[in-house]
Amino acid sequence: MDKIIVKGGHRLCGNVKISGAKNAALPIIIASLLNDGWNTFHNVPQLMDIESTKLLLENLGAQVETSGHTVRVNAAGLSRHEAPYDLVRKMRASILVLGPLLARLKKTRVSLPGGCAIGARPINLHLKGLEHLGAKIGLEHGYVEAAAQELIGNEIYFDMPSVTGTENLMMAAVLAKGETVLRNAAREPEITALAQVLCMMGAKIKGAGTSIITIYGVDSLAPVTATIIPDRIEAGTFMAAAAITGGDVTLTDCRPDHVGGIIHKLKMTGADITVSGNTIHIVGPERIGSVDLKTLPYPGFPTDMQAQFMVLMSVARGLSIISETIFENRFIHVSELRRMGADITVSGNTAMVKGVPLLSGAPVMATDLRASASLILAGLAAANTTEINRVYHLDRGYEALVEKFSGLGANIRRVKN
Ligand code: UD1
Repeated sequence: MDKIIVKGGHRLCGNVKISGAKNAALPIIIASLLNDGWNTFHNVPQLMDIESTKLLLENLGAQVETSGHTVRVNAAGLSRHEAPYDLVRKMRASILVLGPLLARLKKTRVSLPGGCAIGARPINLHLKGLEHLGAKIGLEHGYVEAAAQELIGNEIYFDMPSVTGTENLMMAAVLAKGETVLRNAAREPEITALAQVLCMMGAKIKGAGTSIITIYGVDSLAPVTATIIPDRIEAGTFMAAAAITGGDVTLTDCRPDHVGGIIHKLKMTGADITVSGNTIHIVGPERIGSVDLKTLPYPGFPTDMQAQFMVLMSVARGLSIISETIFENRFIHVSELRRMGADITVSGNTAMVKGVPLLSGAPVMATDLRASASLILAGLAAANTTEINRVYHLDRGYEALVEKFSGLGANIRRVKN
């Protein structure tokens, strides 16, 4: 397995282009299952999760073509209704095929994704919502089996806003009969992006981006050409890297309006941030100031940036309290950061971080995507060399990460192990 070696102490400077958003690309590519014909998507990031999605679609009978950052999908040949364990276990977001397959084929069988490193992550809200649309749901041998003679619009209330839950239900409801109202829906930009693509296909959706989404079912949808929005978590990760190295970095091709919560917090640490059109310019402070943080559904501070922010706080002047309210087990990076000299105490869903002047490089290992990114940030700021193992997590969700950091002047390389 490859590893990444980082020699800390280099100030990051220069421009970095932000790639298409993984979490927008996944549901949008999967939405191709809802029509017959060639859909074309531009600005698709080159990631393992995208490869897993393409395999899954091909396995269902769709045709997929890729050229650079353009992916074309044609689901006219959709012939199978099952998403097998081997494909789903590689990527939890495979559960997103549930809604479209049910809408198109009236039956589906999708492997349960199971737990993952950042918590139990149930799918009860997806299933309850589909039941409200008239589906009969069963759980057999680790698979969700869902069937419906026809899907009929209904009121669906989310006990808590779920991103993929909202996406799954939106994709099921677009071809249902009548009106569906999703209440307490997730408001993430990826939801709005998916709704826009579905509307381009001919769906009738109102209120995406708010907590009440209304969907008027239509008989069929047409293929589209669409461009994937920029990745707000990648943007946040590079901003945090600029801040922690006292760097001077310009992010291009991003959506500053999607990272307002992150910019707000980074400014409070002393970073100087200016926004102009689709670029963000960030100059890191001499020493990071400490800030408290609570993760919340969008537009609150994203849980997917919590680990990176914790690294910042681990070298800040003073004490900060970080509360994780979305996932119950999302402090797995703490023990690795401690090995690098961070002073962090965890109690329940709260971490108390006492900033130290300098982290020290160490061999570390991460167990999820964003935790891996946080360890790279720690390595960039640490004395000496940090060796990050299990980098396949990073391949799942960050495009050309090593190349992008190198381009900004980091001393970073990937080695075959
Ligand atoms: C998505 C993102 C992930 C991000 C997360 C939260 C994708 C592919 N992934 O994950 O990067 O970290 O949003 O912003 O877009 N829950 C239930 N029952 C359900 C569904 C969710 O209890 O049926 C709970 C979860 O355990 C969690 C909370 O709801 O506590 C939010 O999770 P959710 O928004 O569903 O996360 P994902 O969509 O899996």
